[in-house]
Parts: sequence; structure tokens; C-alpha cells
Amino acid sequence: MKQELSRAFSDQINKEYFSAFLYLAMSNYFANNGLKGAANWTYVQYQEELAHAQNLVHYLHTRSESVTYAAIADPSGAWSSPLEVFEAVLEHEQLITESIGNLATLAMQTGDHAAYIFLQWYVTEQVEEEGNVNDLLDKLKLANGNTNALLMIDSQLATRAFTAPVVPGVGANA
Ligand SMILES: [Fe+2]
Ligand SMILES: [Fe+2]
Repeated sequence: MKQELSRAFSDQINKEYFSAFLYLAMSNYFANNGLKGAANWTYVQYQEELAHAQNLVHYLHTRSESVTYAAIADPSGAWSSPLEVFEAVLEHEQLITESIGNLATLAMQTGDHAAYIFLQWYVTEQVEEEGNVNDLLDKLKLANGNTNALLMIDSQLATRAFTAPVVPGVGANA
């Protein structure tokens, strides 16, 4: 793998770990504000982001590349409502979508077909990530601060369970 691409993979790994940390901070916010369902949803999202990072790590290892880890920034935000949290989620996921897109473009430009193919899973995953958050934002806007509606949304978010994503190109025991 070209060094430039390997470095960009490492940067993406650090971004995925930051994403995990951000969702963990959001889960903390919800747990402390009486919304256990949203706390669950964001905690599951934290687990997903860890898996995104780990699968990228395994991929680099498979390619005999080493990962450069950086310090993870403080993820705590000054959120004052569930709507603000999920608006921050959308904004963050849009940045990640852009970052994954740039990584895939770099893989293509450096002629790394294998890396380009591997990254397609992440490209598609981002469509789902943004779609889920947009759905949730629509519901929260409909609720318009109504406590009963908010609690109903919260009970739906309580049902989300983590299933480890299967990323093609990463062995089960990688
Ligand atoms: Fe991710
Ligand atoms: Fe994400």
C-alpha cells in the first residue's frame, strides 16, 4: 500500500474511534436526562463505531501495514435537548461520509483496487448512518418537544440491539 493511503487509513481509524467516543458521551447525556432508550441507541452506535475502527485496523494488518494512533479529542458537547444531540450526530456523520469518500478517492487515485473495493462497505454504511439519523430527526421534529411523544420515541430506541457488522475482506478471526 502506498504510504499516503496507509496514513489516510490511520486517520480514518482515529476518526472512527472519535465517533465511538462521541456516541458514548451522548449516551451519557441521555442516561442522565431520563431517556434510557436514547442512551441505549447511542450506546449501540458506540459499539458499531468501535467495530468500524476495528475492521479498518484488521484490514491494515492484513495488508501488513501498521496503524498510527492519535489521542482522541474530548467528545463532550453542550447539548441541551435530544434534538440538538441528533443534529450534532447528523453533522458528524456527514463529515465522516466525506472523509470515507475522500479515502475511497485516494485508493482509486493510487491504483489500489483492493483498498477501493474494501472501502465500498463503508461508503454504503454511511448512507444507512445518515438515513437512520434523518428518520430520527424527522420524528423528533414531529414530537416538537411534547413529552409523551418523546417518551414514545425513546421506548422505540430502547429496542435497538448490537449485532457485529460483517465487513467483507476482514476475516472472522482477524
Ligand atoms: Fe463509522
Ligand atoms: Fe457512524
